[in-house]
Amino acid sequence: MSEDLRLIHCQGAALDPYLDALGQLRITVFREFPYLYDGSLEYERDYLRTYAAAEQSLVVLVLRGSDVVGATTCIPMTAEGPEFQEAFVRAGYDLSQICYFGESILLPELRGRGLGKEFFRRREAHARELGAQITTFCAVDRPEDHPQRPADYRPLSGLWQQQGYERHPELQCILNWKENHESEESPKTLTFWLKKRQDS
Ligand SMILES: CC(C)(COP(=O)(O)OP(=O)(O)OC[C@H]1O[C@@H](n2cnc3c(N)ncnc32)[C@H](O)[C@@H]1OP(=O)(O)O)[C@@H](O)C(=O)NCCC(=O)NCCS
Repeated sequence: MSEDLRLIHCQGAALDPYLDALGQLRITVFREFPYLYDGSLEYERDYLRTYAAAEQSLVVLVLRGSDVVGATTCIPMTAEGPEFQEAFVRAGYDLSQICYFGESILLPELRGRGLGKEFFRRREAHARELGAQITTFCAVDRPEDHPQRPADYRPLSGLWQQQGYERHPELQCILNWKENHESEESPKTLTFWLKKRQDS
């Protein structure tokens, strides 16, 4: 890792001083395909409050100087909202065994140097400390021929498979956000990827 980057861990209320910087980074990174998110800090504050309010959440921030240039988040599934829990409840999972990974985001110029894998290592270590048997995250479903897919887009599915995650098409959630070409929020379908703990 470059010497001017620092990774710090925030749990619960320790995230408070970074909430707006993290929200702004989410807006910047998720504006790109495949999320196309036309975000607002107001929505971000509301979304991130769940992490700041949960003592057992973990947010890893990548700092360059005092700027937040990357982040990854995780939280016990029991502390997440019903929109994330529902598919697992319906399928008969024990929510107390699941750690949910919220996002991994990095400014584009910092990608491809191993931080994404480091994000998985740190979140999986946290999930082990929580005693979770399953780690999971979800990703938005987009068709191959989506009109806004850049010609040089590199899907992250290879990275996720390499990290031991498997896509579960039977586990989906619907989240609402406003895309860059939309005048208001609309529902998007996301599919969960899961990994079962190997060392138990
Ligand atoms: C997810 C993300 C943080 C990964 O970070 P990263 O530091 O590039 O990850 P790593 O360097 O550890 O590994 C990247 C792997 O994915 C591949 N990859 C896919 N797209 C890539 C891209 N745009 N840039 C660099 N690597 C990419 C690389 O080949 C690499 O695999 P390899 O080591 O086997 O060659 C970063 O790509 C990102 O911010 N993406 C946009 C936000 C997003 O979609 N997040 C995931 C959903 S929340």
